[in-house]
Amino acid sequence: MATDSADVFRRLESEQAGYLEELKDYLRIPSISTDPAYSDDVHKCAEFVKDQLVAAGLEADIVSTDRYPLIYGEWLGARDKPTILFYGHYDVQPPDPIDEWRNPPFEPTEEGDLLVARGATDDKGQSFAHIKAVAAILAERGALPVNVKFLIEGEEESGGESIERFVRERGAEKLACDAIVVSDSSMFAPGRPSLLYGLKGLAYMELRVDGPNRDLHSGTFGGAVANPANALAYIISQLLDHQTGKVRIPGFYDQVLPLEDWERKAFAALPHDEDAYRAELGIAATFGEEGYSTLERSWARPTCDVNGIFGGYQGEGAKTVLPAWAGAKVSMRLVPNQDPDNIARLFADYVESIAPVGVRVSVSWNHGADPVLIDAKGPLVEVAMAAQEDVWGHKPVLIREGGSIPIVGTFSEVLAVPVLLMGFGLSDDRLHSPNEKFNISHFYNGIRTTVRLLDRAADI
Ligand code: BES
Ligand code: MN
Ligand code: MN
Repeated sequence: MATDSADVFRRLESEQAGYLEELKDYLRIPSISTDPAYSDDVHKCAEFVKDQLVAAGLEADIVSTDRYPLIYGEWLGARDKPTILFYGHYDVQPPDPIDEWRNPPFEPTEEGDLLVARGATDDKGQSFAHIKAVAAILAERGALPVNVKFLIEGEEESGGESIERFVRERGAEKLACDAIVVSDSSMFAPGRPSLLYGLKGLAYMELRVDGPNRDLHSGTFGGAVANPANALAYIISQLLDHQTGKVRIPGFYDQVLPLEDWERKAFAALPHDEDAYRAELGIAATFGEEGYSTLERSWARPTCDVNGIFGGYQGEGAKTVLPAWAGAKVSMRLVPNQDPDNIARLFADYVESIAPVGVRVSVSWNHGADPVLIDAKGPLVEVAMAAQEDVWGHKPVLIREGGSIPIVGTFSEVLAVPVLLMGFGLSDDRLHSPNEKFNISHFYNGIRTTVRLLDRAADI
């Protein structure tokens, strides 16, 4: 069998520029799943993905759900060969703050090696590389070296309930496979591919503080009536110990699986440059839980952060007002074995226990994800690592990440096969930020890596 992928690589030389144009068409669809105003675009985007899978030579269908469709595709013509399931998401984050984009977020723009657009790296560009790898092999050879399945969702950025239900109800029958490949993360550094063995979980909360029945004159009433914005600021200030960086919610750390010695050694051995990290972010100092390095904090220790804060007068100039209410969105990033429901409860109990008198505090739960640790062992893990080395010229590093991909934990649990978290992005891709980009060379190498993975998987 073709352990050498030269035939397909040759074809890519002439086809890849066309693939890039198709990726731009994909990026032009504003499939923002968190904002109901874009519902039609999200549906249109699902059709686009299905058409791409069909054009590649797969059997593919839209799977309707209570919310946004899933796309399922398969090619199962490689008898007695392993089956690889590719997962990705076609929804994207909102583009705001919109003024900070150099070009409109849904008009993909090439800037040298960079393709700039919302979704370029997260996750349209990365998962499109899987589709184009399969398309190129089928175009070249008329058959794939192994069986493939695709499951691509449109709610990853907004909770992912539909795929969760699908995998639990139909996964065992429909998604049976030998390994799952997910490219929705970054490489450790340019030229240094990585395989992730851990992702954080999430408990995303909303906090609202209500006071008087209307905004009040801050001179007439200030000092005599509790101010919801002051109360909110107080509550937020109590979430963290600002000296030690520890989360102050009682019980928060109880279930935390400590870092193992080998992990601390392995993280410390990675070429992480703290000065370059600070410089790239424009910060004078890093801050986090005492006793842990930057990589340990971001990959393996739980956190609590305000994501947004609102209330009171926001316009130009001064308006002397005591706001009737104030609110905040708070995310807690979790590590094994913390449980999102339990952490959400601890958060609510704590906030209620410290709420100042004279205001009403309400806490609601937005969405969550389980943390995961993957047992990165077995022949297909070896195959994925070898494929990365073939293309990037370096053995991948085994690392964890601070982001969450909610369905990954469910995949591990229901399908009980390794999840190969093999990202093609870079840490400066600006996912969720203005001017998100994907290096075009990484798109092309992502296609090649996927081709190598499929060719190598045929030999196990
Ligand atoms: N692709 C990211 C997750 C990610 C980012 C993994 C960086 C590894 C490195 C994913 O699209 C994402 O943004 N997930 C959300 C999940 C949430 C909305 C439930 C996240 O982590 O905030
Ligand atoms: Mn993503
Ligand atoms: Mn994302």
